[in-house]
Amino acid sequence: MRNSKLKFSKAMAKVSPFRVMTVMDQASALEANGEKVVHMEVGEPDFTTAQPILNGAKEALNSGKTQYTLAPGISELREKIAGHYLRKYNLKISTKRILITPGASGGLTLLANMLVSPGDGILIPDPAYPCLRNFVRMLSAEPQLIPVDRVQNFQPNLTQIIQAKERNTVGIWLASPSNPTGTALRRDELTQIGQWAESNQLHVLVDEIYHGLQYVADIPSILEVYNDAFVVSSFSKYFGMTGWRLGWIIVPEGYVETAEMLAQNLFISASSIAQFAALNAFSNEAIEIFEERRNAFQLRKSFLTSELKSLGFVIPDEIHGAFYVYADISKFSQDAELFCNRLLAEHKVAITPGTDFGQHKARQHVRFAFTTSMKDLELGIERLNSALKI
Ligand SMILES: Cc1ncc(COP(=O)(O)O)c(C=O)c1O
Repeated sequence: MRNSKLKFSKAMAKVSPFRVMTVMDQASALEANGEKVVHMEVGEPDFTTAQPILNGAKEALNSGKTQYTLAPGISELREKIAGHYLRKYNLKISTKRILITPGASGGLTLLANMLVSPGDGILIPDPAYPCLRNFVRMLSAEPQLIPVDRVQNFQPNLTQIIQAKERNTVGIWLASPSNPTGTALRRDELTQIGQWAESNQLHVLVDEIYHGLQYVADIPSILEVYNDAFVVSSFSKYFGMTGWRLGWIIVPEGYVETAEMLAQNLFISASSIAQFAALNAFSNEAIEIFEERRNAFQLRKSFLTSELKSLGFVIPDEIHGAFYVYADISKFSQDAELFCNRLLAEHKVAITPGTDFGQHKARQHVRFAFTTSMKDLELGIERLNSALKI
């Protein structure tokens, strides 16, 4: 029962928890009882942080690099990130536009505070990473959801964007590749969105946290086609540093000073040890490890997608990146939460219901994460097989 002595801000009533956390709690309870659970619910790589990064952290600790850093991050790391954009996208990004943040989550917090006022509207695809909607709601603004389907790669097209825009709309937030769908925006789509935003004087924010973890040759950054976009990225996924809480944002030139001021106020600086450790994330030795891991993810993706298809799940034609398969379960159930609960309770397979990611056909979808070993994926498919036979 709600305790009337507790006084929350009005916005809190609108912020929703992740259902995946309940799945994880239930899975832990089963494991505590000695059950073997196949985890396909977790959105983080099962690989631990690569050795060169660990070595960097040890060196940083031994040389006492334990103090706050400058708010936008250590300049060596910002330069390494600029070098990464030059090599990977052939983009020259001035280091002052790059700010190091406590994860992409810190970056989103900063950008939300910088760009959104109470009563504003932000266009967001449905389904999308749930925090995007929640960040908007925390600021007493309104997520304006654009329903997207498998046939359009779960990404909004320009016609939909134009139709969804309302008088209070101030920007659009996208993710490419997306969580929960692993599908990316094409270069021409990004170009159109950039042009539309510019002519309507709206901001574009693209969450590119899954860049690097890609299974197609070209996943463009919005910055290749629209220099005035806001980009959110992270060391969590491709670089395998989830627990270090380290990410970055790239902001247009005119926003640099305000972004720095907000970084000082919101978190003073990202973790110093994590920043010094991440300097090694761009070494050849580290990249070799990340590429091996990407290959392992690609094998898992091929296995899982073909098995899910033959079981009767309807999935995107191509998963471009990340480590998710967003699957239509309508052949088996009209209630994703019930489907996930039963799959976990009766067959010990943990997946996430679509209702975590939005409303549009959410009860008809579930998310599989291939963030577990091939052996466990095989076991998961075996269990799914027997679950669906009943
Ligand atoms: C699309 C998306 N953005 C941001 C985040 C947050 O990542 P970080 O660990 O960098 O805070 C996640 C985490 O799963 C994500 O899927």
